[in-house]
Amino acid sequence: HNGKINIAIDGPAGAGKSTIARMVANMLSYVYVDTGAMYRAATWYLKNRGIEPEEVNEVLHTVQNLGIELIPGEDGQQVHVNGQDVTAEIRSLTVSSQVSRYAQIEGLRTWLVSLQRQMALRKGVVMDGRDIGTTVLPDAEVKIYMTATVEERARRRFNEMQEQQGITLEMIARDIAERDRLDQEREVSPLRQAEDAILLDTTHLTPQEVANRIVSLSRTYWEREQE
Ligand code: CDP
Ligand code: CDP
Repeated sequence: HNGKINIAIDGPAGAGKSTIARMVANMLSYVYVDTGAMYRAATWYLKNRGIEPEEVNEVLHTVQNLGIELIPGEDGQQVHVNGQDVTAEIRSLTVSSQVSRYAQIEGLRTWLVSLQRQMALRKGVVMDGRDIGTTVLPDAEVKIYMTATVEERARRRFNEMQEQQGITLEMIARDIAERDRLDQEREVSPLRQAEDAILLDTTHLTPQEVANRIVSLSRTYWEREQE
């Protein structure tokens, strides 16, 4: 291959996955793939059409034809569904509070996982989510499991969401704790640390420190390969 590797980053909400995955991708000139945005985009679409999670299997054919695009841009990634820009909508608390219910549906996961694997075929991908190291890319050369205390994760998310009216730290802490629970307890590819993943607790680290650590782990991998 082209000398590039794949980097898988999993962990609970607010651990720093997307911020750090994007930094690592920039540092290595790799492509960043935000799989959470794909589950959020599907949730936004289904919820808007009044389709409940238990009804998704009946409309799976329509769902599989949804055009979900992740478009890298100047100030972050844009997310489009059938050509419509839903970048802001998918970050709302409405979508956040529903996404883990839809993410339990096996048919939806199978479809998104196959799209994600295609995106990583040519290597040089930093992919973050919940099941990347365990299910999507079990052969990823570098696997990270990122955590932070739930208090710190809620505080980080609160700082980002303050422009959304009427949102309190308590609402965010509740959303995060409930999603963690659903993500860890679901039957199909639950959130868990892959056996060969490296645990990084980011509670007391800056994003730059964590990104440097992952880049250095990737270098170590390459050096071993050369031997
Ligand atoms: O950014 P945040 O950590 O809040 O969440 P996200 O990465 O955008 O993911 C939103 C939700 O999508 C998660 O809580 C999971 O329920 C689901 N998800 C998943 O099941 N598998 C993935 N690979 C990525 C996300
Ligand atoms: O993707 P995930 O939900 O795991 O987390 P994120 O959206 O990347 O991070 C949530 C917020 O925490 C962002 O505003 C980051 O800048 C911040 N963060 C931090 O303050 N320190 C870290 N070590 C990692 C993230």
